[in-house]
Order: sequence, then structure tokens, then C-alpha cells
Amino acid sequence: MNASFPARRMRRLRAKDALRDLVAEQRLTTNDLIYPVFVLPGTGQREEVPSMPGVERLSIDLLLEETAKWVALGIRTLALFPVTPMSLKTECAKEAFNPDGLAQTAMRALKAQFPDVMLMSDIALDPFTSHGQDGLVDEAGYVMNDVTIEVLVKQALSHAEAGADIVAPSDMMDGRIGVIRDALEREGFINTCIMAYSAKYASAYYGPFRDAVGSSANIKGGNKKTYQMDPANSDEAIHEIALDVQEGADMVMVKPGMPYLDIVRRCKDELKVPTFAYQVSGEYAMHQAAFANGWLNEEAVILESLLAFKRAGADGILTYFAPKAAALLAGK
Ligand code: PBG
Repeated sequence: MNASFPARRMRRLRAKDALRDLVAEQRLTTNDLIYPVFVLPGTGQREEVPSMPGVERLSIDLLLEETAKWVALGIRTLALFPVTPMSLKTECAKEAFNPDGLAQTAMRALKAQFPDVMLMSDIALDPFTSHGQDGLVDEAGYVMNDVTIEVLVKQALSHAEAGADIVAPSDMMDGRIGVIRDALEREGFINTCIMAYSAKYASAYYGPFRDAVGSSANIKGGNKKTYQMDPANSDEAIHEIALDVQEGADMVMVKPGMPYLDIVRRCKDELKVPTFAYQVSGEYAMHQAAFANGWLNEEAVILESLLAFKRAGADGILTYFAPKAAALLAGK
């Protein structure tokens, strides 16, 4: 063979659609997607989130209507985030475990109408605290670990009672997974899963979410760096995840998503547990801004961004693009 020609033609397997599909190492499916939704009090309420174009906050009646459409697209898991009125926020976050609270009521209504749709619920106090922190604070504004866990346990139990299939502690308190697991077992919720937000970073990418749930206005202390992780760290993430798994987490999560795909990969390689990633509000906002300006091709970039999570090792992805991606995957 003439030495000036390539010895190995990598392009051969890229020459045709069918060949490329045949050798594809990863495939994104609608089964991989979890759709986070924001729930409003009242009825007939529908509000766009300004920093998240295309994402609406919905009252329960409208949430039920929309869920029928999402189900028709093949979406099977929703993650619920209640938007709590200011008047119900307190220092002690007692609304978090109100059996008739918004999250609990929404779960009961969804389960009654869509028993096969899996419901994931957020365990953290930030939608319910007057100061916007994920836990109870002392006079200095420091988030107190152990007393916060006592409230998280009540919240988790009230969600399990309301029908949550997966409770997802996103608070980053130390030791909460073990205590929540024990409480769930004790109360008979042996099949309620825990997806731990294990490697949750103190990220500026959560800004639009905090607008959406109204927890941004006045975070006491200005940030969550005393409990969420430093973006500089990677070994620490593996340590956090390993502890949560030991304490009884069934699934773990890395958050945010795209800037932290290295953590997803390390988690999958080193711990070999069901691993999820959250393409967070700021990532969604960034993409939408580029789509709106015509700077990126919406359909292609949505699917590419989600496939990248799978390649990095994620078993599933929480994404605000879920309905759009599901429609694209169904060829709609
Ligand atoms: C609450 C919580 C947050 C997100 C999920 N659960 C915000 C925060 O920790 O401030 C962020 C999700 C997103 O940005 O899309 N603890």
C-alpha cells in the first residue's frame, strides 16, 4: 500500500446513517429523562419564568392537564418544586412538612390521575424558609446541620405519605441520608427510593431556579457555600457520594450538569452506582438565550447536550428540555 495513504480509515464507519447507528456507543431515550416542574398555589394559574423562557409554573389543575401531554410524549418521571407564598415562609420552615402543603397536594392529585407516573420530590427547606437557606439558621445565619435534619425527616415522611416514589434530598446536610432512610424504613416506606443530591456544588447556575421558586430575593448570607460544595473540588465529590451510598442512597446525583461531567464520569467509574445529573436552570437559560438569538440550532443542541450526559456515565438526566427532547426523540 502506498505509505502516503492512511493505514486505518476511521471514517469508514461514519459513511452511512445506518452504520453510524450500528456502532453508536450511547443512545439517548425518553426513559432517561426526568422533568422538573414548578407548582403554583390556587387554580387556573400559569406563569412563565422570565429567566427560563418556555418553562411555566402551573397550579395543580393545569399541571394535571399538562402532565397528560408529557405522558403522551413518553415522560415517566416528574420532579416537583413548589412555589411557596411568602406568607407561608417562616424561620422554622414548618410548611415543609404540612401534609396539605403544595408539594404534598400536587403529589396526591398526580398519583390519583397518573398512578404510573413516578414522582420525585425535593427534600430541602429553601422554599419554606423566610431567609432562603436550605436549613434552619442560628443567630449568625449559619445553617445548623442536625436540627435541620429533624425537619428534613418530617418533610421526607410527608412526601412518602403523599405518594413520592423518590425523595431527593438536595440540602447537603451531613448524615441526612442515613437518618431519612431509617425513618422511611421505620414508617414502612421500604420501597420509597432516595436519590441523593450528593455532589451538589455551590453554583451560580441555580439563579433562574431561585427566581422560579422565589427563594432568591434574600438568601441570608448571600450564598450556600457552607454546605454546598466548592467548584474547585473533585475528590471531595467522590467522598460525599460514597458516604451517601453507605448511608442508604439508592441513586446519586451530580449537580450542575454540563460543567461537571468530569464528576459524573468519576462517580460512575469509581462507585458504579445509579448516577444522575441535573442540567440546571442556568444551563437551560444559557441554551434558550442562544436559541432565541439564532446562535445555536435548538433541536440539534438539545439532543447533543443530553447525549453528552449519557456518554459521561449518567443513567438519567433531570432537564427542563424533557418535553422538547421527548418530542424530538419521537420524531415529533
Ligand atoms: C433546592 C434546590 C435548588 C435546585 C434544586 N433544588 C436550588 C438551590 O440549591 O439553591 C436548583 C435547580 C436548578 O437550578 O435548576 N435546594
